[in-house]
Amino acid sequence: MQLQTLAALLALLVAQVAAQNATLPETPTQIHNVVYAVPEGQNIVQFAGTMRVPHLPHAGFYYLWPGLFLPNYGGVLQPVLSGATGQWSINSTWYYAITQDPAGQQDVQYVAFGVDEGDDVWFNMQKNDTWSITLAVPGTTKQSTNSFPMIEPAKADHIPYAVFEIELWSQVWDFGPLTFTNITIVSNGTSSSWCSDWPYASETTFQVSGVTSTVGNEQVTCSIQSMVLEQPGGNATAEPAPRTSQSTAAPSTGQRSAPLIYFACIMLSLPMLLLR
Ligand SMILES: *[C@@H]1O[C@H](CO)[C@@H](O)[C@H](O)[C@H]1NC(C)=O
Ligand SMILES: *[C@@H]1O[C@H](CO)[C@@H](O)[C@H](O)[C@H]1NC(C)=O
Ligand SMILES: *[C@@H]1O[C@H](CO)[C@@H](O)[C@H](O)[C@H]1NC(C)=O
Ligand SMILES: *[C@@H]1O[C@H](CO)[C@@H](O)[C@H](O)[C@H]1NC(C)=O
Ligand SMILES: *[C@@H]1O[C@H](CO)[C@@H](O)[C@H](O)[C@H]1NC(C)=O
Ligand SMILES: *[C@@H]1O[C@H](CO)[C@@H](O)[C@H](O)[C@H]1NC(C)=O
Repeated sequence: MQLQTLAALLALLVAQVAAQNATLPETPTQIHNVVYAVPEGQNIVQFAGTMRVPHLPHAGFYYLWPGLFLPNYGGVLQPVLSGATGQWSINSTWYYAITQDPAGQQDVQYVAFGVDEGDDVWFNMQKNDTWSITLAVPGTTKQSTNSFPMIEPAKADHIPYAVFEIELWSQVWDFGPLTFTNITIVSNGTSSSWCSDWPYASETTFQVSGVTSTVGNEQVTCSIQSMVLEQPGGNATAEPAPRTSQSTAAPSTGQRSAPLIYFACIMLSLPMLLLR
């Protein structure tokens, strides 16, 4: 792994958490994720798939997303399914320019659309001249494409991590499994072991099936038929863990800044699981 990068990330994280103290909730954050990490020298250039919208038990800070995460100065490109208003909605977000001063942090968000339980939201994050996120619910008029300006210091020419994440802020995982299907992750280069190897996972049991990779034209195309984040539990890099349960009930408190939350969370989760 890119330990130097991760150590830097961890150092930044400590500063981040101190700086963001005021915006973090008082109760623990639950983070559950599965991460595909391409090796140094290879970059992810596309991440597409379908996310099935689960049941929304009640309004709350549920943030469910597939995303691409940068090392170092960081940033995360993510279509975020949020339950904050009591109706699921999905926003395309590029969160970047991470500094120790939260005032220097930037995000670009686009309102995409409201979605309902059972909707299959197709997402496509693709690098062209710049990165774009396309979202669509096939068979409906719900569709959006947004391009994101990749400005310094987060130019996003090096993206090593594709993440499936459930973030719960003062919530419990009470909406059932989160299912992704028809997934494609494309990197440049010719090494495909990052696709065939078991992915990193943190605090979730998961089932992955139908993984195949093809190499051609200096690109690796990783196809995954299905990825299901099942429930809390499990070990990093282990085979799917036996069913266990672990939940922390906590009341929801107050309003807070969502973009900071998304980022703080992945900052927390990646170093922890990759440095293990
Ligand atoms: C962070 O919050 C804790 C508890 O709310 C408080 O004790 C601490 O002083 C805060 N730290 C900073 C840097 O604000
Ligand atoms: C989506 O983005 C818009 C525009 O920045 C923002 O007003 C809204 O709060 C965002 N919604 C969520 C759920 O983050
Ligand atoms: C990428 O660029 C090509 C050619 O410049 C264009 O045809 C295509 O529509 C672009 N795709 C996206 C997703 O922007
Ligand atoms: C499956 O993914 C491909 C490539 O991203 C896309 O073109 C196709 O529409 C998807 N199929 C469904 C049923 O979502
Ligand atoms: C992948 O793309 C990046 C950026 O364009 C480049 O620096 C790197 O050398 C490429 N890697 C391979 C293995 O082609
Ligand atoms: C998870 O880790 C614990 C402690 O290292 C170990 O005892 C247990 O067997 C692991 N479970 C799986 C499914 O690998």
